[in-house]
Amino acid sequence: MKMFPPSFGSALSVAGESRLPVDAPFDKTQRLFVDGLLAGLSAIVEAQEAGDTGTTGSALRVLFGSQTGTAEALSKNLRKFAATQGFDATISDLDAVTLVELAEVEHLLIIVATTGEGEPCDNAKRFHTALMNSDAQQLPPTLQFSVCGLGDLSYPAFNKIAKEVDVRLHELGATRIRDAVFCDTAYEDDFAVWKEDVFATPAFANAAGTPRAPEPFPDTAEPVFTKQRPFTATVLDVRRLSGQGPGKVVNHVEIALAGGGPDLDYRAGDALGLWPVNDPAEISAFLAAAGFTGAESVSLKSGPARLRSALLRFDLTLVTPATRKAWAVPDAPADGQVIDLLRHGVPGLTPQVLIDGLRPLQSRLYSISSSPEAHPGEVHLTVGELRYDLHGTERKGCASTFLGGRIAPGSTVGVFVQQASHFHPPEDDRPLIMIGPGTGIAPFRAFLEEREARNATGENWLFFGDRTEARDYLYRDQIEGWRATGLLARTSLAWSRDGQDKVYVQDMIRRDASEVFAWLERGAAIYICGDAARMAADVDRALHHIIADAGQMDARSAAAYVERLVHDHRYRRDVY
Ligand SMILES: Cc1cc2nc3c(=O)[nH]c(=O)nc-3n(C[C@H](O)[C@H](O)[C@H](O)COP(=O)(O)OP(=O)(O)OC[C@H]3O[C@@H](n4cnc5c(N)ncnc54)[C@H](O)[C@@H]3O)c2cc1C
Ligand SMILES: Cc1cc2nc3c(=O)[nH]c(=O)nc-3n(C[C@H](O)[C@H](O)[C@H](O)COP(=O)(O)O)c2cc1C
Repeated sequence: MKMFPPSFGSALSVAGESRLPVDAPFDKTQRLFVDGLLAGLSAIVEAQEAGDTGTTGSALRVLFGSQTGTAEALSKNLRKFAATQGFDATISDLDAVTLVELAEVEHLLIIVATTGEGEPCDNAKRFHTALMNSDAQQLPPTLQFSVCGLGDLSYPAFNKIAKEVDVRLHELGATRIRDAVFCDTAYEDDFAVWKEDVFATPAFANAAGTPRAPEPFPDTAEPVFTKQRPFTATVLDVRRLSGQGPGKVVNHVEIALAGGGPDLDYRAGDALGLWPVNDPAEISAFLAAAGFTGAESVSLKSGPARLRSALLRFDLTLVTPATRKAWAVPDAPADGQVIDLLRHGVPGLTPQVLIDGLRPLQSRLYSISSSPEAHPGEVHLTVGELRYDLHGTERKGCASTFLGGRIAPGSTVGVFVQQASHFHPPEDDRPLIMIGPGTGIAPFRAFLEEREARNATGENWLFFGDRTEARDYLYRDQIEGWRATGLLARTSLAWSRDGQDKVYVQDMIRRDASEVFAWLERGAAIYICGDAARMAADVDRALHHIIADAGQMDARSAAAYVERLVHDHRYRRDVY
């Protein structure tokens, strides 16, 4: 059997080598397409020449832990690549396997994201608990694995779960065949190197079966518009939802998706990804602090650019290890932002060094607050402007203030649809309890619009709230309209600053305990969206409490009841 080199499946991407003569009469896209086709055909011929007419690859298990879909998408990419390396990959989420099953596996690749404040994703929780258990069973050395972690350096618990999974598998006896990679938000390069390296290890290369031809490029099944190739959409409307006075400003944003085709099709529960740009006024302040005019030239991956325009697309806040290294500031305080470092003065800073220490700006996700059935060709968002004080100066979030203040009808913005793997409304007519204070209301407006458009008969109960009713009752007219028509059987509203006592949605759940339990007993699904730091955990505690109380159970039985809800996909969360 012929062994192919590890980079066989990505021959085109390696140094961009083309199989076509340089003067072949093709433009760039045509050249890529023909090259992909030729790569595929030559792979088949090479395999046949080697006498490999069979199509069996060796077994590979790919497991992912994913909250917003990236790790899942990368697993699919890995499966395709694995086929070109002689492996037939089976993909599933981490919770789909037990440690007993894992012990039978020989080749294992894990792509796992960290979510919350250093927590496992919903589809990796059970696996993570079992793995970290002090009584976890030993694993055999024949289990050969490597881990790719997805994370974000702006979180203190950077890649916590990937690190734990990697260390624990090794501790339990499995064989690590390649060091784990812990990716930041710009994961593409690290993932690509890890993927190639893994198949080049003796443990994988020596076990490879028959490689398959790579799928021709462009693969017609591949989407045209993705996170990396966003659709340029036009803004239709931006209007303020919250009232005047102190407090968070929340805006309603409407964006046209016409012309985006099927890649922009979405379902209630999905999120819209979008690429913001920095505020020009903030860039001016940044340049002043750095002592540059903005007219200086810098070199970017995409080519040369003026510093001022380059800064539109770099993160002006986050201090990363790359910042510390490029700017030679190893002791930069953890709680500061790059502007604070500049204000203190960074010796030897040149425009290029400045850029080299900044992380490219990342896309942001927003829960979609419209149903495509109610608003064909449009997508609506409900965006809270982030403003906070740090070291005595006001700071603001990049994307939320971009959407709130720097776009207007007619502006364009790069967008993509991020499908939710686990947060769509129930397909049947079961009762639905939705808990979404603040901007957490967004997906539930979409759910209710969808149930209305479909004349769905399932009962709906909305828990909503914020500081004050007069200022913060988002979508009041629509919600009251739905109460009047009966689409909303119940609303429970919690205003934390209106009365003597602070009341939150979790208090309303406790107040309505017996009714909530009765709904659950009738098969209701319960969905939570919004603040991950406090609200989601408080609601979860309240839920356990009322189930124990109203169901007359001890704490352990109440926990098992909640576990069953999760298992039956009746308890779902989309928190950020
Ligand atoms: C699946 C999903 C759905 C979402 N849906 C919505 C939605 O429907 N509506 C919505 O408004 N948002 C939503 N978000 C959040 C949204 O994606 C952005 O994170 C949010 O708008 C802030 O982005 P920004 O660019 O304005 O802020 P950034 O520029 O990204 O700033 C955020 C950073 O500021 C820093 N920071 C924030 N507060 C402080 C503080 N007090 N002190 C010091 N530093 C601080 C932190 O480093 C933080 O990481 C969602 C997120 C996810 C993952
Ligand atoms: C709500 C939320 C919380 C996150 N918490 C962490 C964290 O604690 N540590 C970390 O390294 N990354 C964190 N991240 C970043 C994700 O791990 C990263 O975006 C990853 O690519 C997401 O992968 P997924 O789309 O497969 O879920 C968080 C992201 C979100 C949206």
